[in-house]
Amino acid sequence: MASPLRTYFLAALALAPIFAYLRKQPKRSSTLPHKNERVLIIGASSGIGRTLAHEYAKLGAKGVCVIGRRADKIAEVVAECNAYKGPHTEVIGITGDFAEVEDMVRAREQLESRWGGIDTMIVAAGVSALLPLMEITGVKSGNADKEGIQRVVDVVGRASRGNYVGPLVAAVTFVPLLESSSPCPSILLVNSLASVLPAPTRSVYASSKAASLLLYQALSIEHPRIAFSHVLPATIEGDFRASAVDGGTVREADPNKSGLKREAVARRCIAALEYREKNVYMPGLMGVAHVIYLVWPSFIERYARAKYNFTPAVM
Ligand SMILES: NC(=O)c1ccc[n+]([C@@H]2O[C@H](COP(=O)([O-])OP(=O)(O)OC[C@H]3O[C@@H](n4cnc5c(N)ncnc54)[C@H](OP(=O)(O)O)[C@@H]3O)[C@@H](O)[C@H]2O)c1
Repeated sequence: MASPLRTYFLAALALAPIFAYLRKQPKRSSTLPHKNERVLIIGASSGIGRTLAHEYAKLGAKGVCVIGRRADKIAEVVAECNAYKGPHTEVIGITGDFAEVEDMVRAREQLESRWGGIDTMIVAAGVSALLPLMEITGVKSGNADKEGIQRVVDVVGRASRGNYVGPLVAAVTFVPLLESSSPCPSILLVNSLASVLPAPTRSVYASSKAASLLLYQALSIEHPRIAFSHVLPATIEGDFRASAVDGGTVREADPNKSGLKREAVARRCIAALEYREKNVYMPGLMGVAHVIYLVWPSFIERYARAKYNFTPAVM
């Protein structure tokens, strides 16, 4: 590494813990007590969204609204939250697709009429994609044919719908309602470490997640009254990968053995909202890995190839 680069790198490493400490400001007095908080969780029929719904019900939030496409799963989550909740919590389940304008407008109308608005919107919904880009074409070597290239376009369309268009429609639908109906509105986007640390086999997933991360980061500048938090977790336990829009399978270590625990991620999300933290890496040390990637990309690329068990094809 060139020596000025190394100096910047070492300085960044030394200063990282100080920045992390300073950014973790004490709870703002403007944060709503949970008993007054109306929380909308999009993508709550399983995984982190579902665990977040349980946590908010246990905290005694004023309202917990869960959204997902599978009606049977949403009914289960509502029943679970009703079992956990305190006497003053109202739980609402809505079946819908967050990339469908009609579904989101219907959800907004329901929340306006039942609660008069919302205070917190959590976007946890997302879909995975697991194949190296060229493998999606189905062509083993040489030029991809027309059908193969079209297959890639179709897969990217499905990934964009779940990871970019959905967050976009949710933001356009609910940002004005949050601003007009809440004394301290907040939005939390459950994004991914893949958005800032590129990995093989994740080109489609990472680029579609990165698009929504940048969308929300820019929105947070356009809407300073809303506290935005973006949580970037590494691999989490569960069956997120079963939703792969390219039909790919997992190459790395079993997420259920090595992944972050759902409860830990959900609690970290709630803390991020309470402390109004902007960008949260999980585990926290991954913030350092992001800095390393900026100054020494080949180091992270080697690590990523090993983690995803990926050997580049020899052309
Ligand atoms: N699991 C990981 O290793 C990992 C790591 C880093 C980041 N993340 C991110 O964490 C988030 C949650 O993942 P998870 O592990 O909890 O996976 P999960 O169990 O598959 O949860 C995803 C949720 O999103 C919902 N969803 C997907 N598309 C939707 C749509 N179009 N409209 C409405 N809801 C939709 C699904 O419900 P329906 O199918 O019922 O709609 C499901 O409830 C994702 O955004 C993912 O990118 C996951």
